[in-house]
Amino acid sequence: MGLLIENGTVVTAEKTFPASVLVEGKTIRDVRAGIPRDGHTVVDATGLLILPGGIDAHTHLDMPFGGTTSADDFETGTRAAAIGGTTTIVDFAIQAKGTKMRTALDTWWKKAEGKACIDYGLHMIVTDLGTSGLEDMDDMVREGVASFKLFMAYPGVLMVDDATIFKALQQTAKNGALICMHAENGSVIDVIVQQALAAGKTAPIYHALTRPTVAEAEAVQRAIAMAEMAGAPVYIVHLSSEDALNQVREARDRGLPAFAETCPQYLLLSIEETMNHHSFEDAKWVFTPPLREKKNQPKLWDGLRHDHLQVVSTDHCPFCFADQKILGVNDFTKIPNGGPGIENRMQLIHHHGVNEGRISLNRFVEITSTAPARIFGLYPKKGAIAAGSDADLVLWDPHAEHVISAKTHAMRVDYSMFEGFRVRGNARQVYSRGELVVENGKYLSKAGRGRYLRRAARGGAWQ
Ligand code: URP
Ligand code: ZN
Ligand code: ZN
Repeated sequence: MGLLIENGTVVTAEKTFPASVLVEGKTIRDVRAGIPRDGHTVVDATGLLILPGGIDAHTHLDMPFGGTTSADDFETGTRAAAIGGTTTIVDFAIQAKGTKMRTALDTWWKKAEGKACIDYGLHMIVTDLGTSGLEDMDDMVREGVASFKLFMAYPGVLMVDDATIFKALQQTAKNGALICMHAENGSVIDVIVQQALAAGKTAPIYHALTRPTVAEAEAVQRAIAMAEMAGAPVYIVHLSSEDALNQVREARDRGLPAFAETCPQYLLLSIEETMNHHSFEDAKWVFTPPLREKKNQPKLWDGLRHDHLQVVSTDHCPFCFADQKILGVNDFTKIPNGGPGIENRMQLIHHHGVNEGRISLNRFVEITSTAPARIFGLYPKKGAIAAGSDADLVLWDPHAEHVISAKTHAMRVDYSMFEGFRVRGNARQVYSRGELVVENGKYLSKAGRGRYLRRAARGGAWQ
């Protein structure tokens, strides 16, 4: 016998309609009005929206970075994700220089083993194409790692040169995978940073003030130009500014397969309103790219509304304020870069997007679930409410009030980037492959139930 979710309103990227959803085992079997009860276990979803589980395509769990390791591991991070209505993440394995990508893949599989609470995929961060790097990329695609991240920033750590980027793009033009680009001109930024430090500017705010939006826009433009020359698609991660967005929009207007995501922090926080403590407190918002001036926010929302931006992910990369951010107390360049957000993405985008009239409910579903599923080779297994799809479903109460706070959140980090934000709309029940894993903010299942997702390379199928 199955599970029959009755009386709810199904919301997909395309439409909103009253229907019952029949789940058998791990899979959705039927979606329509009037499915007979036939002895199924019935769940009453009166007053609730039925959404496809959220997909966060950009997380960093248990990641060594900035002299420390991100504070959430695969257990605490994916549990927090589930509580917030996200049922799939795509995290990043990191190839260590001079080593094979397979070693990194094995390492990240081990990090997730016995811990992941929801299903997860992996991108591979490429740091070195060396002698076997291009074949390694094909090997990764065979393992379901259908996307690679390259860095145009963080010189001496993760940054690669244009030749490496171009070769990687050419390889994906052949193997059908997708290059995700951290687009900032790292060499120029490094000069500005060194000049700031020499002038005694060591406070956290200088992290933001030494990374101009033009440095982001220039790198986005260069990344897209290299992708065009290679005949490959490109996906810009954590896009933060109007200047950068203009580059993506122009490329898409020319018909190029250029895609981009932004994150809640760039849509809702700003240098003026958030990093205004004139103290080390500002380190809570040190991530890269940094917060921007508030005037960028409406442009990013416009970009989401008009599909110049396709996805909202979190770039969840938490570091505790007390014992990790503090590493940079005398020098902003030593503050571990990253912020927490995996738990609050759906609440924040629903409230500030849908409730405040910036995007429709269907667009909310598209940018938080369906579009990342399509772009990252998970659709229609994930990101859809349709017969045959995984039964990853969120019963969403659009009227539930919630105040975001580190005092109550599940993420293993001692502060919230959105402390005190009031949101209306929250996950009431969350199903992952047919199992009820969250009810009223409580995780009900065990760690280790989440499965690795072998993602399909999209090949030439980019529109
Ligand atoms: O500050 C950030 N974004 N940390 C995570 C690494 C990255 O660049 O995505
Ligand atoms: Zn990045
Ligand atoms: Zn990131």
